[in-house]
Amino acid sequence: MKEKQSELGAFISLLRSANIPKLALIVGLIGSIITMLVGLSIPLLTRELVDGFEVEALSATLIIIIVIVFILQAVVDGASTYLLAAVGQRIVARLREMMWFKLLRLPVSYFDKRASGESVSRVVNDTGIVKDLISQHFPQFITGLITIFGAIIILLIMDWKMTLLMLVAVPVTFAIMMPLGTRMAKVSKGLQDETAAFTGEIQQTLSEIRLMKASTAERVEEEKGKEGIKNLFGFGLKEARIFALIGPLIYTIMMLVIVIIIGYGGIRVAEGSMSTGSLVAFLLYLFQIIYPITSFAMFFTELQKAKGATTRIIEILNVPEESGQEGLEMDITNKQVQVSHVSFSYGEEQKVLEDITFDARPGEMIAFAGPSGGGKTTLFGLIERYYEPTKGEIKIGETSIQQLSLRSWRSQIGYVSQESAMMAGTIRENLTYGLPESEKITDEQLWKVAEMAYADTFIRTFSDGLDTEVGERGVKLSGGQRQRINIARAFLRNPKILMLDEATASLDSQSEHAVQEALSRLMEGRTTFVIAHRLSTIVDADNIIFIEKGRITGIGTHQELIQSHELYRQFAEQQLT
Ligand SMILES: Nc1ncnc2c1ncn2[C@@H]1O[C@H](COP(=O)(O)OP(=O)(O)O)[C@@H](O)[C@H]1O
Ligand SMILES: [Mg+2]
Repeated sequence: MKEKQSELGAFISLLRSANIPKLALIVGLIGSIITMLVGLSIPLLTRELVDGFEVEALSATLIIIIVIVFILQAVVDGASTYLLAAVGQRIVARLREMMWFKLLRLPVSYFDKRASGESVSRVVNDTGIVKDLISQHFPQFITGLITIFGAIIILLIMDWKMTLLMLVAVPVTFAIMMPLGTRMAKVSKGLQDETAAFTGEIQQTLSEIRLMKASTAERVEEEKGKEGIKNLFGFGLKEARIFALIGPLIYTIMMLVIVIIIGYGGIRVAEGSMSTGSLVAFLLYLFQIIYPITSFAMFFTELQKAKGATTRIIEILNVPEESGQEGLEMDITNKQVQVSHVSFSYGEEQKVLEDITFDARPGEMIAFAGPSGGGKTTLFGLIERYYEPTKGEIKIGETSIQQLSLRSWRSQIGYVSQESAMMAGTIRENLTYGLPESEKITDEQLWKVAEMAYADTFIRTFSDGLDTEVGERGVKLSGGQRQRINIARAFLRNPKILMLDEATASLDSQSEHAVQEALSRLMEGRTTFVIAHRLSTIVDADNIIFIEKGRITGIGTHQELIQSHELYRQFAEQQLT
């Protein structure tokens, strides 16, 4: 119970933070209340028509007034419908903005744990559910409530005995609808979770379509997809069954009540204790009341749904952002990088890095070697601040890198990774990606960096040149081409520190040669960290750090390590002879 309350509280505070346009909401609500009040007057008018139908009473002015009232009502109805929809749309836009901005600033570790499709579903679907509640179900609930109270008061005044008789239907309807509503809430929660999971799976498969094909995994994927689709289908059927129950049940109750009213009312009319017009009015009110009562159950269902959606939205909004959104802006030129006693683990499990200590003077080239899985890429992740060390500290000059703003720190680092990642878009967009005022960068500058990265020749062979589309994740380019564009990106940013993670590992020997030359050029005058898959590229390094199972087991130049480090000597013998 307590949890439920806090859920509702969370829901309300989320709506608060979404900055509901209150005026529009209130005006919209008032509008729909007016519409509804006019609606309440219709049975009364009808009664007058039925009972005292005299042509003289229908004066021209009365007719005109009635017509004007109805036109006004239509206008008010339209305006309030629009206002409420606009409020809903505003809220959903605001929520999506909040979530998107948040997602962009969440730490890498958050994305390690979740399928990206799931986050997509949260931003797209869950926000939509909250919108529906605000702009549709909530106003329906309010006006429904007022309709019921209004109608019942009028009816009590008209004829309390009949009213009480009719009201028997209300508890009966509720008794039927409430359990159905609860059931419905469960179903729709399951439906949402399943939708998110299904989206996640599909997206995952589609984004690795080549791997899927190469592994001839069509059958397996078919089965996996079938499973998800079957689950969704199951939920859909459950939903349909509930709806199938609701409709006929309500219909039956309504028919029963109508029969009772007409039966009892008929007797009263025959007795002369009630007018025909009143009987007609009664029936009309009955119709007006029955819809809101049924929609109440739906409202509670929607409320449950929205609470579920809200919980998941809040879950995302509450994850702490990467630290360093704010911080020092510092020029790191000619500053020494110092890594001292750094340990790290991804989760609770064993340490991936333990007590790593080394430093890099400005302009030095520090190389990392060691068996795969030793923790080299992880160390780069710590320097780039994708993750934070669990122990120890990384300093630039005298300042801990934690104190710098992420923007300041990362913008001065060039990171060319193993995957040679690219965005969909043109070569130009990829080169300037993330740079402020990128439209001011001239073609000349771009060609220059392309040339420095030995990328100009192949870019010129494309008929669209810099405006060639590279496809999703750069699939239209070869690995070597992608990597050279990444190096050109780095040139354009002119980073002070360079990190190269097996940048040539996935290339054939010819493009490896070109890329290696581009890299040597890029390294000139910058502090460089290199993870080498080939020792030949690092024999000239100022220091080589050998990492095994998360620990440094040797530091020195190539010659020194050959002398002192058994495993390094083996590596060298395998590769350099
Ligand atoms: N995102 C991650 N989550 C959990 N464990 C990881 C993650 N990335 C790497 N690891 C683990 O950390 C260890 C070191 O990996 P890595 O730094 O990539 O090694 P290297 O680059 O030296 O080959 C490996 O055991 C790997 O399984
Ligand atoms: Mg690695």
